[in-house]
Amino acid sequence: MPTSTAHHRRIVVTTALPYANGDIHIGHLFEHFITDYWVRFQKMRGNFCLSICADDTHGTPIMVAARKQGITPEALIAKTFAAHRRDFAAFDIAFDHYSSTNSDTNRALCHEVYQQMQDAGHVETRGVRQSYCPRDEMFLPDRFVRGSCPACNATDQYGDQCEVCSATYSPVDMRDGKCALCGEKPVTRESNQHFFKLEHFRDFLKQWVIDGVDQEIVHKLDEWLQDRLKDWCISRDAPYFGFEIPAQPGKYFYVWVDAPLGYIATTKEWCQQHEQDFDRLWKDAGTEIYHNIGKDIVYFHALFWPAMLKTAGFTLPRRIFVHGMLTSEGEKLSKSRGTFIRAATWLKHLDPEWLRYYLAAKINGRISDVDFSFNDFRARVNSDLIGKITNVASRGAQLLQRKLDRRLGSLPPEGRKLVAQAAAQSEAIAAHYEKRDFSKAVLAIRAIVDEANRYCNDAVPWESIKHDHERARGTITTMLNLFRIAAVYLKPILPSYCQRVEMLFAEAQPFTWASAQETCEQRTLNDFQPLLTRVTAAAVTRMGKETQAEQQAEQA
Ligand code: 2FM
Ligand code: ZN
Repeated sequence: MPTSTAHHRRIVVTTALPYANGDIHIGHLFEHFITDYWVRFQKMRGNFCLSICADDTHGTPIMVAARKQGITPEALIAKTFAAHRRDFAAFDIAFDHYSSTNSDTNRALCHEVYQQMQDAGHVETRGVRQSYCPRDEMFLPDRFVRGSCPACNATDQYGDQCEVCSATYSPVDMRDGKCALCGEKPVTRESNQHFFKLEHFRDFLKQWVIDGVDQEIVHKLDEWLQDRLKDWCISRDAPYFGFEIPAQPGKYFYVWVDAPLGYIATTKEWCQQHEQDFDRLWKDAGTEIYHNIGKDIVYFHALFWPAMLKTAGFTLPRRIFVHGMLTSEGEKLSKSRGTFIRAATWLKHLDPEWLRYYLAAKINGRISDVDFSFNDFRARVNSDLIGKITNVASRGAQLLQRKLDRRLGSLPPEGRKLVAQAAAQSEAIAAHYEKRDFSKAVLAIRAIVDEANRYCNDAVPWESIKHDHERARGTITTMLNLFRIAAVYLKPILPSYCQRVEMLFAEAQPFTWASAQETCEQRTLNDFQPLLTRVTAAAVTRMGKETQAEQQAEQA
């Protein structure tokens, strides 16, 4: 896949980098599906589209997790890296390159960007009072201190903000603050830190957000951009797992500096491996760069990140795609309710394609949350994906195999009309994909197979086959052509399933978006193999139970 002009568009898409101290769970999958459906769609359209991701490996929580396990952070992130890659692959999430933020390429890039920030006068250094735990021998991030709110005295609050009165403060101002790791009272230590002067970018950002994010988000950002923007502390003291700041022993870059730079460093690695021109991707305004993120990390991506890119002369994202959170049964994912499902646990009990289909049918490109419900999941997959979509193929292909030598005939006039109508849906469905309204794409695809099922029920090929083979063959040829077109449109969502469809139809080439315009006549199909099975209630229950058991084991 060269970055040449043979493609219509040149696109780089990223997905938020998963932290390297946790397993991939259903919430990550939700976000990665959004990217993966979209990227696969763009590729089927013949566009150059690069899917970039990496593990987010630095920061205090990762250092602490490694300590707890009695291993080095390097060993921890290596272990997680392998597990993440395995889980993503099992769910058919295909990256062009998946790297790690703890790479030499990223380190060099981080140094370079920091130098540019300094040279441009955007960095200020000053002393800061911070909480330090003498027992753990480390500085405590705000969230690692718990105590009473200095404003309203509410107990058991985090060190940055009170959940009762919303006051924001520093953990050093809590009278009874305690280290969240060991319960020890932290001491206050002062040291020098570096700050990025975000305020320097206020006018630029005000302008940038207008096209850079969805209307729904611009509103929130406008609020932030009303007032002077707070300086952003971009350094941390040792011990810290991250990149050391050049010529400043014991000072490290805050993880949120090198994490988004990982998008660029990962692209750079891909370019090196594929002998492609990096500047054409990240230093050329013609490249469409998109970041898929959850609404919880908008501040980083819509304010800090464009300011960093501007300073360093990289291409700004064309747009940031913000999605809501995945909930389950209307609530936050929860381990105790058995809804915080790990990818690996899902794979033990359920087919990953079921989840790809179910979530696609619910994702509409808006910022609202998306709900995963066990019963709804089973009902939708069984009635729609199996009962409607897959059923067209199995009814048609099995009859053809049993009685008609697996050979398609010619389309009868009515069938030709239906097939032309399905082919004509191509641009409308493409527009849904483009807007990440996968739910509308799925609806349109289902309408095509509904048509095929209706046509089949009217034409009753299992009756006509008893006295008129060619008539039955015409009916089945219509059904299977409609199914094939639906499968082309479905391929970004269900790539493996659709590969099995390609196999069934003995396709010379994998489907591209244009394959929907072809008709399939006088072709001998391959042996029919079941495409997908139904979801059983027992399997769903087993998975929920195992998730709850995992949590109990973790607590014990
Ligand atoms: O919120 C998170 O899970 C972060 N690990 C996302 C980082 S995205 C990017 F900026 F690196
Ligand atoms: Zn402690």
